[in-house]
Amino acid sequence: MTEQSGQGPALDNLSTESRVFPPSAAFTEAANVGESAYAEADADREAFWAEQASRLSWDTEWSQVLDWTNAPFAKWFVGGRLNVAVNCADRHVEAGHGERVAIHWVGEPGDSRTITYAELTREVCRTANALASLGLVAGDRVAIQMPMLPEAIFAMLACARLGLVHSVVFGGFSSAALRSRIDDAQARVLITSDGQYRRGKPAPMKDNTDEATAHTPSIEHVVVVRRTGSDVRWTEGRDLWWDELVGGQSDVHEAEAFDAEHPLFILYTSGTTGRPKGIQHTSGGYLTQAAYTHHAVFDLKPEQDVYWCTADIGWITGHTYIVYGPLANGATQVVYEGTPNTPHEGRHWEIIQQHGVTIYYTAPTLIRTFMKWGAEIPGRYDLTSLRVLGSVGEPINPEAWIWYRETIGAGSTPIVDTWWQTETGAIMISPLPGVTATKPGSAQRPLPGISAKVVNDAGVEVPHGSGGYLVLDQPWPSMLRGIWGDEERFRDTYWSRYAEQGFYFAGDGAKYDADGDVWLLGRVDDVMNVSGHRISTTEVESALVSHPTVAEAAVVGATDATTGQGIVAFVILRGSATADASTAKTLRDHVAAEIGPIAKPRQILVVNELPKTRSGKIMRRLLRDVAENREVGDTTTLADSTVMDLISSGLKSSA
Ligand code: PRX
Repeated sequence: MTEQSGQGPALDNLSTESRVFPPSAAFTEAANVGESAYAEADADREAFWAEQASRLSWDTEWSQVLDWTNAPFAKWFVGGRLNVAVNCADRHVEAGHGERVAIHWVGEPGDSRTITYAELTREVCRTANALASLGLVAGDRVAIQMPMLPEAIFAMLACARLGLVHSVVFGGFSSAALRSRIDDAQARVLITSDGQYRRGKPAPMKDNTDEATAHTPSIEHVVVVRRTGSDVRWTEGRDLWWDELVGGQSDVHEAEAFDAEHPLFILYTSGTTGRPKGIQHTSGGYLTQAAYTHHAVFDLKPEQDVYWCTADIGWITGHTYIVYGPLANGATQVVYEGTPNTPHEGRHWEIIQQHGVTIYYTAPTLIRTFMKWGAEIPGRYDLTSLRVLGSVGEPINPEAWIWYRETIGAGSTPIVDTWWQTETGAIMISPLPGVTATKPGSAQRPLPGISAKVVNDAGVEVPHGSGGYLVLDQPWPSMLRGIWGDEERFRDTYWSRYAEQGFYFAGDGAKYDADGDVWLLGRVDDVMNVSGHRISTTEVESALVSHPTVAEAAVVGATDATTGQGIVAFVILRGSATADASTAKTLRDHVAAEIGPIAKPRQILVVNELPKTRSGKIMRRLLRDVAENREVGDTTTLADSTVMDLISSGLKSSA
């Protein structure tokens, strides 16, 4: 393998990990999916996915399972027609489950709301009628920036019901980030809230969207959910209160069926350039894989389980495993508005105890935070209802994995470490809880119907025990259908690296162990993974150089014990600017304003030079050595090989 410019953490202990945890006989016996699913799918992949698509209600049956003739643009369930929202709400009522709880919503300040499938259906219909009354028609884009409120889910499903394409923007993104996403998608309506509860206090939300919409001519209306009751600025004619707009609408709405390939949503994610990519997903294939994977990986039994995914709807995990997968499966789930330590560090365990949560899906960064807070905190609660634990977003270190199983899962609960991406739409590599003998830190095996390989530079699969790049060598139903408005970038980013073989390049390093199980090793491109959030180094660099005092910046992701990676920035100040005690704070705040607080560098180091190759490319690998306090690696390709000595000695003297 050639040198990786990757940001991936060095997971040193992976090579020595040998513990294996098979499921209990009782779990295997009752599991939704057994070992035979792999062989069944291998025998006829398309027939397998057609069978999974039959879990959904279709208005018109498809005539062809997969059309891959125009690769890399896939068409799944060609000619099929369905309504995604009907599949997530109405059909459960029609099947006699109207009184089943869809959502146990838990507000941060302690308020709550229980929403049955019958109520969910009525709320989605009302919201759909409201959006239609604004003149929106199928294909139009709607931006949503909202905290974790039930209305966010109603809004997403109402869009789906009308064939509108939603673009949910994480609530923590700045007005500048929101603005560029609205502009790129040319959204006609923005849905938001007056404020949100965060760490026990109301915080503004509409202020942020107001700053964005001051410069987004495509936005005709801003629909505002009342949450905190705080004062907001108001633009007459444009701004509409949700309760006034939606409240008076009929709760009956006749849904139209849309083509399986009708766009469902755009979700922006960071790539290797400063400009986020609008990942496009469509309806039939996406919902099929969302529903199947939720059923298979979490072993969901809708009549018995209480499921909880702690993600935010602003990320793909929230889209697929809070909204579309669970609701398509008729699950009962917890949706929590706030932070895990408000009002105390046992909040999650208290919620699990109160609602009898059986399946809990969270991120390694949070598990490591819980570890720091101490095992005695979950020890105070009854967690015996839990039967499956999930992990997503970044490689999970074996220590955190074992802690999760022992402390939260009573030493017996299967852990599913799920690898996937915004682009894949749904889980791709994961243990199956009733089948797989799990290994701490490994996502292990592609799911039935999915094919993934670890290959070398030439695209040849590496032998067991070796590492390389992760590729997906067969199309899958929930695959991205493109990047909004940028076909070339879609081809370049994912399909050009292994064009000859037709592989999708995931951007992750991976290896096979001696058994052929897959271990993910982190990104191999200039994308960082901070608390499971994807942030590109270039995006943070552009934010830094947009500050008047900064001449040049280089950003790396350095291994961080809690967040997986932390952002470390090296900056060169402009001639007239001098570094003082406030420089780092000023620049960190500037990045927060440009992108959002999640992109704030952990550390900012002012330097006089940056290490560059003769062609002018910044050698981040060397900067990462400095950021991680390692001996600096091979500097022979530097244009000026003394630069690293200058940086290292400069930092030592300023430390
Ligand atoms: O590097 C991989 C990492 O997260 C990236 C995808 O990020 P995003 O599109 O934001 O989606 C996150 C939630 C699905 C991947 O390229 N990643 C995600 N899950 C895992 C992971 N790395 C290792 N193990 C995982 N389970």
